[in-house]
Amino acid sequence: MRLLLFTGKGGVGKTTASAATAAAAAARGSKTLVLSTDPAHSLADALGTPLTGEPTEVDTGLYAMQVDTQAAFERTWRDVQGYLLGLLERAGVDALQAEELTVLPGAEEVLALLEVSRQATTGPWDLVVVDCAPTGETLRLLALPEALSWYVERVFPAQRRALRAVRPLLSRVSGPAVPRDDLFDAVERLHRELLQVRQVLTAPSTSVRVVLTPEAVVVAEARRTLTSLALYGYRVDGLVANRVFPTGSDEPFLAGWAAAQAEQLAAVRADAGGLPVLVSPYRAAEPVGLADLTALGQQLYGDDDPAADVDGAALVDVVRTADGFELSLALPLARRDELQLSRSGDELVVTVAGHRRVLALPSALRRCFVAGAVLRDGRLLVRFEPDPALWMSR
Ligand SMILES: Nc1ncnc2c1ncn2[C@@H]1O[C@H](COP(=O)(O)OP(=O)(O)OP(=O)(O)O)[C@@H](O)[C@H]1O
Ligand SMILES: [Mg+2]
Repeated sequence: MRLLLFTGKGGVGKTTASAATAAAAAARGSKTLVLSTDPAHSLADALGTPLTGEPTEVDTGLYAMQVDTQAAFERTWRDVQGYLLGLLERAGVDALQAEELTVLPGAEEVLALLEVSRQATTGPWDLVVVDCAPTGETLRLLALPEALSWYVERVFPAQRRALRAVRPLLSRVSGPAVPRDDLFDAVERLHRELLQVRQVLTAPSTSVRVVLTPEAVVVAEARRTLTSLALYGYRVDGLVANRVFPTGSDEPFLAGWAAAQAEQLAAVRADAGGLPVLVSPYRAAEPVGLADLTALGQQLYGDDDPAADVDGAALVDVVRTADGFELSLALPLARRDELQLSRSGDELVVTVAGHRRVLALPSALRRCFVAGAVLRDGRLLVRFEPDPALWMSR
């Protein structure tokens, strides 16, 4: 099973590219599901057919669904939250504080992720294509399993202890409505499921494609997205440059746009570090419906398999060099001026545009000092050389 996630800035063509990719894969005989986590019903609009929260067959081998996170959220977490709120308030906990204690960060995104993971692990699919919400939310969504691990591991035990402590008081005040351990067990179950989500999202058969239009503002955001995805440990295996104007027009308006886009595309290609840049032309009309989407898929992938894994390079790699070692980290389209590197004991801390990744260094590198670092061909290369002092002391 192959899992492909499409992300990018708002309005660049994520939904269109996801649907076109799914249609192209299904046309080649893959049993394909395209799934949208966006609450706006644009996947249904692009396909030109209504969708529900369960997979619907829209063409031979092509299924589509719209994850209804709002409904799922109402069904599950609100119950739990309402219960906890009532409980805490009756125990005299300040309303604001009670609210804070019961908020589960990103609960709706969690539910969307759980559905993606459920379809990917138990569905009959060869390929699952996910049309993610715009960049900001997607990044949060992708980082969430880790954030929630943190929450469950540190905050939740404290909450649990706090509630246990007030329980005797509660039973006096409010009769039978004491905090139930099964509620906590439910949250811990959720935590386990999220660890599975993380596993699915970072599996070697999973990759992300970033959609952009070749315009300066969009490209700048795509650069940041790519970097943060790489930092979070997600594999990006391609870029989709969408709505590309035809070149060679005599019309100054079109020629101007085409020239500006060509310049942006050249910059993207130069920094992509071997990452394929798939191009889809600006079409004369909105690509809506299966015929248009299949045609767009053909333009994007030609006769290639849309689900093919195009980049096998490791995300993090360490090789031996004449002087020591070189650690390389995939950071396609990253900018030098947004990158910071620091060494903290046995860890290497990479910060890019506010996103931070802490890399635990393998033992051979711990006894080395950082001799230098460069950004080349979409990878950050950090040179390590043996530190005589450290070799002596260990
Ligand atoms: N190659 C193209 N040629 C012409 N129109 C396109 C092309 N790709 C997308 N569009 C149109 O651009 C609009 C935005 O596309 P789409 O909905 O796929 O973007 P999105 O990134 O999913 O947006 P959102 O961030 O709102 O989810 C739609 O009207 C779509 O039909
Ligand atoms: Mg969309």
